[in-house]
Amino acid sequence: MSLSMTKITTSGKDITGITKKYCRLIITEDAPSWHRLVECEDGILEYRIGAGKWKAMTPRKFITFVRTVIQAAKSHQIEHLAIQAPLAMLPAILKEHDSQWILSTLAENLTIASYEFTKYKSTKTKKKRLQEILVCGGLTALEKKAFQRGVVVGNQVNLARDIANTTAEDMTPTDLGKAAVRAVAGTKASVKVLGEKELQKLKMGLLLAVGAGTKHETKLIIIEYWGLGKPGKTDTTKTKQPIVFVGKGITYDTGGLNVKPSGHMHDMHMDMSGGSSVIGAVAAAAKLGLKKNIIGIIPSAENAISDRAMRAGDIVTAMNGKTVEVLHTDAEGRMVLADALTYSERYNPKVILDVATLTGAALAALGQHASAIMTKDETLETKLRAFGEISGDYVWPLPIWDEYQAHIKSTRADLSNIAANFSRFGGAIEGGAFLANFAPKKVPWAHIDIAPRMEAIISDKLAKGSTGEPVRLLVRFAEGY
Ligand code: BES
Ligand code: MN
Ligand code: ZN
Repeated sequence: MSLSMTKITTSGKDITGITKKYCRLIITEDAPSWHRLVECEDGILEYRIGAGKWKAMTPRKFITFVRTVIQAAKSHQIEHLAIQAPLAMLPAILKEHDSQWILSTLAENLTIASYEFTKYKSTKTKKKRLQEILVCGGLTALEKKAFQRGVVVGNQVNLARDIANTTAEDMTPTDLGKAAVRAVAGTKASVKVLGEKELQKLKMGLLLAVGAGTKHETKLIIIEYWGLGKPGKTDTTKTKQPIVFVGKGITYDTGGLNVKPSGHMHDMHMDMSGGSSVIGAVAAAAKLGLKKNIIGIIPSAENAISDRAMRAGDIVTAMNGKTVEVLHTDAEGRMVLADALTYSERYNPKVILDVATLTGAALAALGQHASAIMTKDETLETKLRAFGEISGDYVWPLPIWDEYQAHIKSTRADLSNIAANFSRFGGAIEGGAFLANFAPKKVPWAHIDIAPRMEAIISDKLAKGSTGEPVRLLVRFAEGY
């Protein structure tokens, strides 16, 4: 779907030297809202667009600007667009980042701004499609490589969006496993999918409870990418310890017996956005041939309603032996992640990040401009914020102090899956606090609540629907941690 939509390549030639087939983008210092399509005397089409004063350009503005260009090109039905690599005009950005960042970020955002989800449209539009983007200007070998990296990452963001935008009927846990297999086909990464029998053997009581109400089989999807080679049994060096990404893979969240009110359910086919972004990120790492070991773990289930569904008041036992009182069947994400976090321990991870559309409360806290991060490891928090800024997938911290543990102490079991007094205050943090009981001890771990960034907003300048976040963040993290 997304991979072949727009061809995005580079040319060694300057923009003035290419054929008339291309509409040439001319970036000016006019106000950002200014733009004009001009036919020059020699039949060359120029699209002039303002970016504001170049010295006022920032990395954040640059990302949005690139997307605006593509949205505008689409609305003018431009089919072939040529852009001069915007290096000289970004002196302010070059103080913060190198030209490789510019080329990579340009490629990522050209790619994700070109994306459209048309799988369920019965008629193909007559509108002319943006078929090709050509980035001109003499690039160094490193800049060219950075650009190609950006195209790979952008395509994996789009893959994550395709998966998330697909209906729950077409993207069951089984389908999600198949999507993972397809995503890494032809790379060194491999996928294992465990079914309910194996999950019972592993005693993953929380994951199984969440998936008990549906006809679709619950799965645990594991993607292994040993870019540095597997650590040997006697290996004591830390370098080969893998980075583990855990992604929530709820293929539909009705809320369970505590059914969601109308208006809060229709977009819950995207409740596997954590899982799809982990698939995209590990696939990108594998396609880029990163010299890193990375494991993706995706607990996947449908939170459905039936006579077999878990009930509020049920008590279930997690893989790590802790008992959980299900006070609310809509707090299912933390339950499936809990068993996946326990499972991650067998990889002796260097660091663990879990990524989940976990709480509406994270939206209440941050609005829709950043995902919430929660970790007790200050170095990890600082790094995540920095990688967020570099990647464009912005994150902001919430505390997970021990004080919050008291909220989820259950009367009858060890833990309750929501605040035992049913308070909604601090709901995002309570999600994180619950997970802290399952993250392997002594391993740096952060929880990323991506509910705020599940769906694109107008100011993102992207197609409506899934954002594909935080694929770009996870790839930067894998590259740089
Ligand atoms: N998947 C939802 C959270 C969500 C809400 C994601 C909106 C994206 C947009 C999650 O499983 C959920 O239902 N959370 C509950 C938790 C509550 C019962 C403690 C919520 O946020 O209401
Ligand atoms: Mn829920
Ligand atoms: Zn959910």
